[in-house]
Parts: sequence; structure tokens; C-alpha cells
Amino acid sequence: MTNNENIRRITIFDTTLRDGEQAPGCSMNPQEKLEVARRLEKLGVDIMEAGFPASSPGDLESVKTIAGVIKNCTVAGLCRCVEKDIDAGREALAHAVSPRIHVFLATSPIHMEYKLKMTADQVVERAASAVRYAKKFCADVEFSAEDASRSDPDFVCRVFGEAIAAGAATVNIPDTVGYAMPGEFGALVRYIREHTPGAEQAKFSVHVHNDLGLAVANSLAAIQGGADQIECTINGIGERAGNASLEEIVMALRVRRDHLKADTRIDTTQIYGTSRLVTQVTGVKVQPNKAIVGDNAFAHEAGIHQHGVLANRATYEIMTPESVGISKNQMVLGKHSGRHAFEDRLRELGISVDAQTLETVFAEFKNLADKKKVVSDRDIEALVMGAAASVPETWKLDHWAVNTGSALGASGTIRLKHKNGDTHKLVAMGDGPIDSIFKAINKIIGKEPELELYEIGAITGGSSSQGETMVKIAMHDRRWNGRGVSTDVVESSIKAYIAAINAMEWELGEKGEVNREKWGK
Ligand code: KIV
Ligand code: ZN
Repeated sequence: MTNNENIRRITIFDTTLRDGEQAPGCSMNPQEKLEVARRLEKLGVDIMEAGFPASSPGDLESVKTIAGVIKNCTVAGLCRCVEKDIDAGREALAHAVSPRIHVFLATSPIHMEYKLKMTADQVVERAASAVRYAKKFCADVEFSAEDASRSDPDFVCRVFGEAIAAGAATVNIPDTVGYAMPGEFGALVRYIREHTPGAEQAKFSVHVHNDLGLAVANSLAAIQGGADQIECTINGIGERAGNASLEEIVMALRVRRDHLKADTRIDTTQIYGTSRLVTQVTGVKVQPNKAIVGDNAFAHEAGIHQHGVLANRATYEIMTPESVGISKNQMVLGKHSGRHAFEDRLRELGISVDAQTLETVFAEFKNLADKKKVVSDRDIEALVMGAAASVPETWKLDHWAVNTGSALGASGTIRLKHKNGDTHKLVAMGDGPIDSIFKAINKIIGKEPELELYEIGAITGGSSSQGETMVKIAMHDRRWNGRGVSTDVVESSIKAYIAAINAMEWELGEKGEVNREKWGK
């Protein structure tokens, strides 16, 4: 145990909705982003980076929506060091209780020469003038020196000195390409802090990628080197190998605060629920042995371990599952469970829904309980996800049937209802039940998106488990996720496909043209 007076408070800057969402396969629709934002607020992050407003009208709108709803933490928007980006950031954050404009510019020789085609002096001047411009509209401005870990440290100090003089309250040292080694990175942070003119007027942040699997180690080393703020994402999602994982950093600080002499204000009991939500909306699963939130993170298989844990959990557990929000509630929910028990379990799972969603989810719970003896926490999460984070339904499943066997191909019949009330029915042949049904759906909607991912799994064990299907479809270089859950795997596949189609229809509009272009940084 450590005396609280010696513990530094580290600021958690979450970028799941920006750097995380930017990663291949991790895109979220605006409703899903809002759902994640609400959950991050409940988790207790200090700052959430809600997006990159100038990257597309859709991103701008979604940052605007989040900024208007989130009250208990700062909402940041990422901008390049150009006025039109900062104007978009200003517009998107206009209604935030606590807005932050985050501007970035690369400082490494390779980025300055080949990407920016700018001299070092030009970079210094551009960084300072962007901070000055942002500062006119926003008191809280952060400046990031992209690729700082491969930059000349003295040059970073010079750029930071000018950015701070222009009004930056936070300066960020990104290891953009995940190149740094922990000892080296900790020392770099200390050096930059000690040699930046005006350092005492700013907070120092780090933002680390995981290309060598060192993002968390580097972030912790940076804290030991004096970093005040850590930028990270839920489940470590992000560009390439991802960003530093929020849950791992936060729990390392909580469990080893005696050693690291630092902690955060995160409510760790919200970690698991937030991780599950991000998995559900992105369709990107975490590996079973992932620290903190993986399925096996608290599982003890070896007999000798089980024996130890039964005698005293601390023999093999350095933190409890409950401390990260994994419920060990053994009370089973089933068809005799009433509304009270159901609402209690939602509360325990850290799930809050509005009255209308509660009605829908409770009715679906009762339906499911009729089919399955025991309804698990995972089943409940799946029901809530299905009801909450969805886009308006252009198409609704009305009826389906498949005919399949080993000799002949499969035929699928589908009847869909359009939002205008029309019903469309079609039969198609295919290489299997799913192929035939998806072909029939494509014929009805008159589009042929590419099926990039089709993944099916069981929510819990046992043959009465619900099947959970994730699909990712692509058209015009855009991608949409869909998720479907049912006790019938064909039906869960159809639901997932229709969910993805609805996300596509919603974004493309009636004409089927892309109306929201997304470009990377
Ligand atoms: O990785 C990076 O350098 C970034 C910056 C924009 C902070 O994401
Ligand atoms: Zn990044």
C-alpha cells in the first residue's frame, strides 16, 4: 500500500473513436460511436478524442453529436495544422462543455522530407501558427509532434517550445510507428521535458503504437520518465498493430501503484463492459489470452492452480475479475426471472438503456428464455447491442426459408419489408444456405456489396447457445459491419447481413452513391 500523497494522477486520453476507428475493420456508425462515447464517459476517461472532423462530413457530424451529449469529460477533435481543419474542429466542438482542439504535424526527417516536403523551419512556423489559430477559438489546445520517437529530440524541444509559447496546454510525443524501446522512450520523455522552453506551462503526453508489441511497456516507461497524459484505446485497437491498450495501462497503474507511484481516475469496474461494447460494435474480437479482458484472463485450468485459487485467490490472481467488472454473479436468469431481476443484472453489467429500449430488450429476453433454459450475461449484452446501436432500418426481415443438402445446391427464399411498406420476395440458388440467401437479398436490394468478412460463433457453450454472426461488406471503398444474434445460425447470418446492408443504405442514400468520403491523415 502506498500513501496517496505520493501518487501522481495520470490523465487518460482515449482515442478509440479516432485512432481506433481509423483502423481497418474497426469503423463504427454514428449511433455506435455515440454509444461508445457514453460508455467512455462512464468509464471515467479524462478526454475522449471523438474523431477527425475535417476528414468527412460524417465525422464532423458525429463529433458534433458526441460533443453535444458528453458532459463529464473533455471532447477532443483531431486537426492537421491547416486552418480549414481547425475550422472544422471548431464547428464540431462548438457545443462541447469542455472542448479540446488537437493539432498534429510531423517532426521526423523522413516525414518532413517525403510526406510534408517542408523544411524544419517551416515545420516550426506551421506548428506555432496552427496552435495560435486554434487558440483563438479554444482555450484547450494540444500539439502532437507526429513520429516524435524518430525525430531529433532537440528539434522536438524547439517545436514544443514554440507551440507552448503559442498557447498549447499539452504537448504530445507520439511513437507513431511503434519503433521505440521502453528504456529509450522513458529517457526521451524525460529529456524532452527537461529541455523544452516553457515546459512548466504544459502537460506532457505520449501516444504509442504497438508495432513491436511494446505500446503498453513504452507508455508505462513514459510515465516513469515524467509523462502526465497517456493516449490509448479500448482493446488496443488502432492503426496496424494498434495503440496502447487502455485497460492494460490502467490496471498496471492500479495493481502496481506502489511501484509506479501513479494512478488514474478510471472506474475499473467499467472496463470489461466497455471492452465488450467495442468488440460488439467493431466486430473485432480480442484474443482469448489478452490481458485484463480476454476470455482466459481469469481462467485457471491447471489443477495445481485451481487448488491454490480455491484455497486463496491471491495465490494466482493479482487482481480480481470483479475489479475489472467481470461479474461472478451465479444467479441464473431464465424464463421465471422477472423484470426486477433483469434490471438488476443490467445494472451489474454496467448497462443503462432508455425506457423504450428496456421494453424491447425485456420482451426479447422473455422470448429467448422460452427457447433457452439459462440466459447468460453474454446473451443479455447481445440483446442490448441489437436493440441500441443500430441505424434506421431500410430493410426488415419478414420471412426466410432454405433448402439444402449434399447432392444439389442450396436454394434460399427471403421476404424483406422496405421502409416504405412494400414487401419483396425472392428465391436464389447458391453454394450453400448462406450464399443462396445473401444472393436473394442482393437481388432484392439491387446492389452487390462484397462480403469481406463472415464470422459465426456461439455466444455461450452448449447446443442451445445463440449463434452470433459478424459480417463486413464493402462497396466503393467503404465498409459496413453487421451483427446478428439468434438461436438459429442461418437467421443470425441473415440478421447480420441485413444490419450491414441497412448501415450501407443509410450512408449511401437512395442513389447508392457515396456521400461521405473518408480520407486518412
Ligand atoms: O500516431 C500518431 O502519431 C497519431 C497522431 C495524430 C497523434 O495518431
Ligand atoms: Zn496514432
